[in-house]
Amino acid sequence: MRIGVPKETAAQEKRVATVPEVVAKLVKLGFTVSVQSGAGDAANFTDDAYRAAGADVVPDAAALWAQSDIVFKVRPPTLDEAALLREGGTFIGFVWPAQNPALMQALAARKATALAIDSLPRQLSRAQKMDALTSMAGVSGYRAVIEAAHAFGRLFNGQVTAAGKIAPAKVFIAGAGVAGLAAIGTAANMGAIVRANDTRAEVADQVTSLGGEFVKVDYEEEGSGGGGYAKVMSEGFQAAQRKMYAEQAADVDIIITTALIPGKPAPKLITAEMVQSMKPGSVIVDMAAEQGGNCELTVPGEAVVRHGVTIVGYTDLASRLARQSSTLYSSNLLRLTEELCKTKDGAIDVDMADDAIRGLTVIKAGTVTWPPPPLKLAAPPAAKPAAAPVAPAAKKGHGHGAGEPMSGAALVTVFALGAIAFALVGLYAPASFLAHFTVFVLACFIGYMVIWNVTPALHTPLMSVTNAISSIIAIGALIQIAPPLDAAGAADRPHVLIVALAVFALALTAVNMIGGFAVTQRMLAMFRK
Ligand code: NAI
Repeated sequence: MRIGVPKETAAQEKRVATVPEVVAKLVKLGFTVSVQSGAGDAANFTDDAYRAAGADVVPDAAALWAQSDIVFKVRPPTLDEAALLREGGTFIGFVWPAQNPALMQALAARKATALAIDSLPRQLSRAQKMDALTSMAGVSGYRAVIEAAHAFGRLFNGQVTAAGKIAPAKVFIAGAGVAGLAAIGTAANMGAIVRANDTRAEVADQVTSLGGEFVKVDYEEEGSGGGGYAKVMSEGFQAAQRKMYAEQAADVDIIITTALIPGKPAPKLITAEMVQSMKPGSVIVDMAAEQGGNCELTVPGEAVVRHGVTIVGYTDLASRLARQSSTLYSSNLLRLTEELCKTKDGAIDVDMADDAIRGLTVIKAGTVTWPPPPLKLAAPPAAKPAAAPVAPAAKKGHGHGAGEPMSGAALVTVFALGAIAFALVGLYAPASFLAHFTVFVLACFIGYMVIWNVTPALHTPLMSVTNAISSIIAIGALIQIAPPLDAAGAADRPHVLIVALAVFALALTAVNMIGGFAVTQRMLAMFRK
């Protein structure tokens, strides 16, 4: 199949959906790649670089769209572009189906298949390699700090010189999601004093680990709306949050706002009065400008000065670092293509049984399939028992996925076969082998029961707790320190070096054990509602 990469048409968009390095990998997967002439210019990828990587360079957009079976793009296509898509063709890129109903209709009219990278179920760990929202937010968060530093016109870091003392800049970050955390890390690295707030209390540790200070709102309310996202907060919380933000606004030099709630307009966190209370020369970078802005005075796409404060509302922050954001984005699309083309034969298979692919497929061959059904593999309610009961009647068939219990009949068959095999081994194998073999079989059985009954979203805490449990080796060290007594009640004292090593091993194991359980506890807390 032919993949086409047109030049982005949105004003100021410098990114390109595929970079030469990725073209070569797509060719290896069996695809033919066409790139519109000049598509990579703004991101410093020349036509020659694309040609060298194995792409055909096509002079104009219409020819490119017409000859491509699959189109890779960054921004959603305009209605004119959608009309250029080959009938039955596939579009892969940002679509924002909720915000673009007309585009959805236009693509459906082309009998297209549309894979919206913005609709990827990000909670699936398998989806992380394709998560363009995260890769773009990381770049944007960094750039927001650079824009702030540029508009600020003062140093970020404090200095003590013979000429006097310079205080470090104070930066307040509203919303500590992917973009906010990137901004916190960047501003802290530049030497600023960084504070941050988020409605999801679980990010407090992440803020601290990046060198920021988490500022709490003086009001108890859980801010998680599921899937790692925020929800709209109560009036009481919002009033308490406004009070805290007003105090911060009057104190800090720079505010970077990143707060978003999926499917809702951006929460208004910075009021005109707060802007007025800021010191002259202060800066606000409103990363939520495109979704209506977190600051009342933001003008999307522009930098304006209000009450002596520069308010930056650029909506193209990732595009301002076009080379790297294009490279990251095209890697995300490459990973998606690999998922779509497991056979490596240059053809894609949009497998709706695959949760990740189902989530981002918003139109399949002209039929709108958005919104997707709720994800089955989301974190379970906390009260769910660890081992799911075996469903006696439901017939699941073969190749059941993670989290699905075996059917009763299958389980009985497996047990019967296992028992026969075990009896045969017991009859003929030497006794010493049998003891080890029994332990091995039990380990396989317990491992199977434990892992297959845990939902994939919880595999990371499972690994962590397994690691903690592996500290059972502490028993070995204990035996070395205090060897078992013989029949006469005497112990065979080991060499002092062995005891010393055992004590050392015991100390390390204790750290692993206590730390492992503590980390697991914290991870599980992130999933509790
Ligand atoms: P986002 O762009 O939707 O929101 C940005 C941040 O604003 C969020 O941290 C949100 O809690 C915060 N926010 C919303 N309303 C607020 C308010 N009124 N006041 C203060 N803060 C407010 O979210 P993003 O950055 O795309 O992802 C958010 C989180 O989702 C990530 O930090 C991550 O933990 C999680 N995530 C989880 C994934 C996974 O489970 N594998 C994958 C991707 C993201």
